[in-house]
Amino acid sequence: MENAKLQLNGKTYDLPAFAGSENEVALDISKLRAQSGAITYDPGYGNTGSCKSAITFIDGDLGILRYRGYPIEQLAEHSTFSETAYLLIYGELPNKETLRRFREDLAHSSFIHEKMVRLLDHFPLNAHPMGVLASLVAAMATFYPNHGDEDQMDTHVRRLLGGVKTIAAYSYKQSIGAPFVYPKRDLGYCANLLWLLFGTPAEDYVVSPILDRAMNTLLILHADHEQNCSTSTVRMAGSSQADIYSSVSAGIGALSGPLHGRANQEVIEMLEMIQADGGNYKKYVDLAKKKDSNFRLMGFGHRVYKNFDPRAKIIKKTADEVLTALGVRDPLLEVAKGLEEVALHDDFFIERKLYPNVDFYSGIIYRAMGFPVNMFTALFAIGRMPGWIAHWMEMRKDPDGRIHRPRQIYTGPTERAYPNGKTPRA
Ligand code: SDX
Repeated sequence: MENAKLQLNGKTYDLPAFAGSENEVALDISKLRAQSGAITYDPGYGNTGSCKSAITFIDGDLGILRYRGYPIEQLAEHSTFSETAYLLIYGELPNKETLRRFREDLAHSSFIHEKMVRLLDHFPLNAHPMGVLASLVAAMATFYPNHGDEDQMDTHVRRLLGGVKTIAAYSYKQSIGAPFVYPKRDLGYCANLLWLLFGTPAEDYVVSPILDRAMNTLLILHADHEQNCSTSTVRMAGSSQADIYSSVSAGIGALSGPLHGRANQEVIEMLEMIQADGGNYKKYVDLAKKKDSNFRLMGFGHRVYKNFDPRAKIIKKTADEVLTALGVRDPLLEVAKGLEEVALHDDFFIERKLYPNVDFYSGIIYRAMGFPVNMFTALFAIGRMPGWIAHWMEMRKDPDGRIHRPRQIYTGPTERAYPNGKTPRA
């Protein structure tokens, strides 16, 4: 592929160009500063590739999302979350025996250290589950040391994947003062999650196959999304050779932001506000168009998708199916559909290619399944765990890998003397 030429201050610099397996083209600027003294400037990294990756491919213009080459539509319909997690982390779909052992390991790893369970007593009852999750996942690094041993890595992977759902479930039980239950070794990943969340020592809760299937679909859809904010955070933290628990805990923190994972909670709160205001969609679409309103249609827009988010399409369909199957009629679903209809025909949204994203409809299903709204982002974190793990492991083996350390353009005061005329002590 022909190199790009950069002309700067009368000199020409060669920028090597290369393409990935889906013919995306990149210019290698890794020697630009050494050769020209200049750096590039790209706030939010919208045009900057941080790495090469073989895990997930997104085509934002065509609305394509594939995990290790498999289309998300096929995985959502035919796979399970455990199988998809294995695919993302190890690169290939597991055979029957490998999957059986993986699921068994995940069920076994769902039991977290009893002293970790006691840490939950020290959080306020109204603690947001994302704060609990970030704290206890970071604490896992203290309970399960020997992070550097390569042969221990699979154990840490299973501990993280298995334990995250238990921590999230226990934070929910803690917040409503309900008793914890132990995971069940004979349940699949999603069924165990539902058991941990809604089961009681009276053993009177039976996991519904409808909810189990819906949970698998939702977690598969959230499992990875290439270099999104939280995954890039996991890679950034891991690039210093921080352990997997500490790196993933940093990612949980990033996901907790309302512009990212917490948008699913914000969407429901927005829909409730619109419903309380008589379902006046147009008023809120117009408000979202006013720069100074500080109001955005949560669940709309995406840095990469300039077409429908393929996950939103599947979740919208699943929402109808789950609510019908559960016999639930949620007026917020009608509000969401009405808002979508108005927004998708409004020039402001059309010009900016703002479509519903993964968070727009997911909360409707979570509500119908009985989750409180502050659990929604924790469910997103459980779903994204395989992606975080897969990227952390890929980053560690990256031949181009080095500690992440971006540059900056300084715009502060130039040198000035300390008030009494003396140069400040070094
Ligand atoms: C996720 O990266 C990923 O892959 C993330 C994710 C994943 O799986 O990991 O897909 C999950 O985080 C989905 C996004 C969830 N967040 C929200 O739904 C919050 C609402 N959306 C926006 O805040 C916004 O669209 C972002 C954060 C999603 C994307 O932000 P960008 O790419 O920085 O876009 P921008 O803020 O520069 O907006 C471009 C224009 C602006 O208008 P102009 O300055 O051109 O006039 O579009 C407008 C924005 O004002 N705009 C919106 C809008 N989103 C963008 N206007 C109203 N409502 C919105 N939601």
